[in-house]
Order: sequence, then structure tokens, then C-alpha cells
Amino acid sequence: MARIAVLPGDGIGVEIVPQAIKVLNKVAPKYGIELEYSEGLIGGAAIDAEGIALPETTLQLCKESQAVLLGAIGGPKWDTLPAPQRPEVASLLPLRKHLGLYANVRPTVLNPALIGASPLKEELVKGTDMVVIRELTGGIYFGEKYREPHPSGEKAVDILVYTTEEIERIAKLAFDIASKRRKKVTSVDKANVLESSRLWRETVTRLAQDYPEITLEHMYVDNCAMQLIRNPLQFDVILTENMFGDILTDEASILSGSIGMLASASFGGNVAMYEPAHGSAPDIAGQDKANPLATILSAAMMLKYSFNCSEGAEEIERAVAKVLAEGYRTGDIMEPGKKLVGTEEMGNLVCEKLGE
Ligand code: IPM
Ligand code: MG
Repeated sequence: MARIAVLPGDGIGVEIVPQAIKVLNKVAPKYGIELEYSEGLIGGAAIDAEGIALPETTLQLCKESQAVLLGAIGGPKWDTLPAPQRPEVASLLPLRKHLGLYANVRPTVLNPALIGASPLKEELVKGTDMVVIRELTGGIYFGEKYREPHPSGEKAVDILVYTTEEIERIAKLAFDIASKRRKKVTSVDKANVLESSRLWRETVTRLAQDYPEITLEHMYVDNCAMQLIRNPLQFDVILTENMFGDILTDEASILSGSIGMLASASFGGNVAMYEPAHGSAPDIAGQDKANPLATILSAAMMLKYSFNCSEGAEEIERAVAKVLAEGYRTGDIMEPGKKLVGTEEMGNLVCEKLGE
């Protein structure tokens, strides 16, 4: 029996996570995987219930599980809290840190059925298939932060730190992943300006010597932001630091039609975590409008990476592709002539297509 910590969180999190569980429950048993789910509170939901964004019980639950399935965190209700208590800062980031999840893997693939859903030109995005490897427990997200008085009012400081060790371990993962793909790594930094990026570039270059079969190129982050929408097919594996990865993956998600399609997995510790790359979408929360596919595809990644069940993962991916090929769409990927469905129905449709 494998224990999964289920953390739906806030906003659309509580709507999309049950869809992924529904799918997992149909697929996992076929491959002899028995899953047991234990729900935990996190984010705004935990603040409301227990006065704290990451309760100790939730952290324990995650540590005792084989994998974590997370929905989304945050919302306007908690935006006015003092910064250190905000759900993002007080729950998701410490959870990643406590679990040692230094590597966030975000595959960006354009499903052929969604070519028209992308706002970018068809000839440009067709064939997009890349994966962004984002460092997740270092950099400016986790450096020292403070404010102090300043003659003009205040001075605010966020420190960006990277060590050789932090860069090496994420770079190794990127090279390993690339060696199973098209063997190209684009390491993204801002080495023309930032010292941390210069260390990043030197370290990645040195490590590349151990991977002679991989083509390594370096790209400045501003250029990468442009290249992603100018010529996305040039990318295979993008390797980058925490904040650049946060920004570039939102941008890259549009290549797959919508951020509602972007799955993610985080590795590094004993327990891996699977979560859609999007947020809690308070504007559509509670209305059965959210796209559950990013979460469902994250659950597929769970089968593949945490349970070594690539076949199950592929079955889910095929079912998603079928539903899209048949023209079913949530609002974020809707196009004229397609069939608009809600969150729940999208989950049911994927379940129906499994094994077909
Ligand atoms: C993401 C999100 C988070 C991040 C937020 C919610 C803290 O944007 O996973 O990309 O910045 O890492
Ligand atoms: Mg983000």
C-alpha cells in the first residue's frame, strides 16, 4: 500500500485534485499499485482552520508518504496578511525546502489538438517538446530578506545566493534528463550582470565535461524569454535557477496552449511532490471552470517517477490526448466549434478514455 499525501490547498485546488485522484484510482490498480490517500491542510485553508499555513501535521504527513499531490495555494483572502504569513511564503516554499525538493521538472509539450489554442502562430509552436528544470530551493526565494529605515522611507533587501553544490546537483539532473532526450541543455542565467549567474555558468560548464554526448549552450534569461516565443523548437532541456525558472515556465506554458496544461514534479528528497504549475485562480474558483488536466498529468508523472509505472503514466497521457482530440475543452483552452466542459466533466471524460 502506497501512501499519498493529498494537499488540495486553496481556490481551484479543491476542484482539480479530486479529478486527478479519480483518474489515479482507475489506473493504478491495473498495474498492481495500491494507493491510499491522506488529506492534509495547507495554505489559506490551513490558516483558516489552524491559524498556520503549514501545520506540523501536514509536514509529518508528507514526510511519511511516498508522494505528495498538491493542488494550489493562496488567494485574495490572505493577500493582506503580513508577508511572512502569506500562504505562498509560509507554506509552499517551506514545504519544498523541508522535503529537500531542489529540482522542479516542468515538461512543456504542445498536444497537436491544441495548436489552435495557443495564441502563437501554428508554424511556430507545432512540435514544441521541451522540459524546464528549475532549481527550487535556492536563489532569491530563500536568501535573507529584510527591511530597514531609509531616508526616503524604507530599504528592502532580498539576497540571491547559490553555492557550487546547489548548482551541481540540479545541473546533473538536467544532463541526465537530456541524455534520455534530444541531448541538448540550454543553461539560462544572467552572467553578464549577476555574480551568482557567473558561478552558475562556470559550474555547469565544468560539469558538462562529464557528459560529452550532451550539447550545452548558455543563454541569458532576457534572450531566453524572447527565444521561447520566437523559436521554441530550438529547446530540449532548459536548466535554470529558481526565479528565472518561475518566470520562464509561465511563459513556456503558453506554448502548450494554457498554463492549465502544465504539469510539474519536484524531486530531491525522499518524497517527490507533484503539482500543476498554475496557481489557485481565485477568479474562477468554485465554479467548476478550472482545467484539471495539469493536475491529472502531474498524477501521471507520479506514476512514472514515484511508482516506476511508465505504462500507467502513458495510459493517462493517451486518455488526455483522446479527450482533446475529440474536441472537449475547458474555458482556458476553448476555441470556436469545440465542446466546452467543466472541471468535473473533464475529469470524467479522461476516466472514460482510459484503456481505450
Ligand atoms: C510556482 C508558483 C510558486 C512559485 C508560488 C505560488 C510561490 O508560482 O510554483 O511556479 O513562485 O514557485
Ligand atoms: Mg510560478
